[in-house]
Amino acid sequence: MKIIVIVICCLSVSSLCCNKYNRIFFEQNHLAALILARGGSKGIPLKNLSHINGQSLLNISLQVIFGTSGFTSVWVSTDNELIFNETERISNKINIHWRSEETATDHATSLSATREFLLLHPEIDKIILIQVTSPFINEKYLQHAVNEMQHYECVFSVTRSFKLRWNKTGKGILPINFDPKRRPRRQDWDGELIENGMFYGAKREMIMNGYFQTDKLCRNWNALPTL
Ligand SMILES: *[C@@H]1O[C@H](CO)[C@@H](O)[C@H](O)[C@H]1NC(C)=O
Ligand SMILES: *[C@@H]1O[C@H](CO)[C@@H](O)[C@H](O)[C@H]1NC(C)=O
Ligand SMILES: *[C@@H]1O[C@H](CO)[C@@H](O)[C@H](O)[C@H]1NC(C)=O
Ligand SMILES: *[C@@H]1O[C@H](CO)[C@@H](O)[C@H](O)[C@H]1NC(C)=O
Repeated sequence: MKIIVIVICCLSVSSLCCNKYNRIFFEQNHLAALILARGGSKGIPLKNLSHINGQSLLNISLQVIFGTSGFTSVWVSTDNELIFNETERISNKINIHWRSEETATDHATSLSATREFLLLHPEIDKIILIQVTSPFINEKYLQHAVNEMQHYECVFSVTRSFKLRWNKTGKGILPINFDPKRRPRRQDWDGELIENGMFYGAKREMIMNGYFQTDKLCRNWNALPTL
């Protein structure tokens, strides 16, 4: 038997926040926006300069960052001269972080690149990583993240999904998140929250400790109302 899965795309996006931190002794205020934009990759080279409606993905993200208030500094981290030049054309308010070859390889994670960046910039207390591969980012979502970073240790973007998921196992195909005898209608459940990769914000210490989000505190995450 073939199962046809119809995928409904949800465009609503909200943010998850975790672990309200306490600001008793001092306020840590340098919030940086960071875009990691490598030049080379085995896939499509310079995808980070791909255009949508005549705009580079890099420019789309940077315009959204400039349209959001609360960032102390804006950074583009790259290993590529074309991306460097495009960044200079876009604005002279952008700081360039020249990435080392080691962290610019295909295997380097966003986490290690962000750590490397933070090691060189001890003045930065909190950071929001913005991924240029999400062109649907807008000022409203990002402003929301910036505001939440005042009160939480980490913030990241999610999309609410009402997809009914199945698992192929040795015993056959089994439902993962619903009861087939009582298929939920959209209005019957809250759906699931799926990371959409638009942005990841975290305090410096978390990233230096090796994570953008914390397992232990996941239980306390607040799903904000769908924007
Ligand atoms: C764009 O830059 C990001 C961050 O470095 C990287 O993960 C991605 O692979 C790059 N895309 C391409 C196709 O080079
Ligand atoms: C980047 O800009 C500089 C200065 O305008 C220019 O000399 C150089 O050729 C450009 N690099 C590339 C890869 O286009
Ligand atoms: C970036 O986008 C802005 C706003 O759409 C536009 O005015 C500007 O010309 C773009 N810059 C470059 C270098 O493409
Ligand atoms: C899917 O099935 C496999 C094999 O039975 C199992 O190990 C795995 O945990 C299941 N995954 C989910 C998401 O239920």
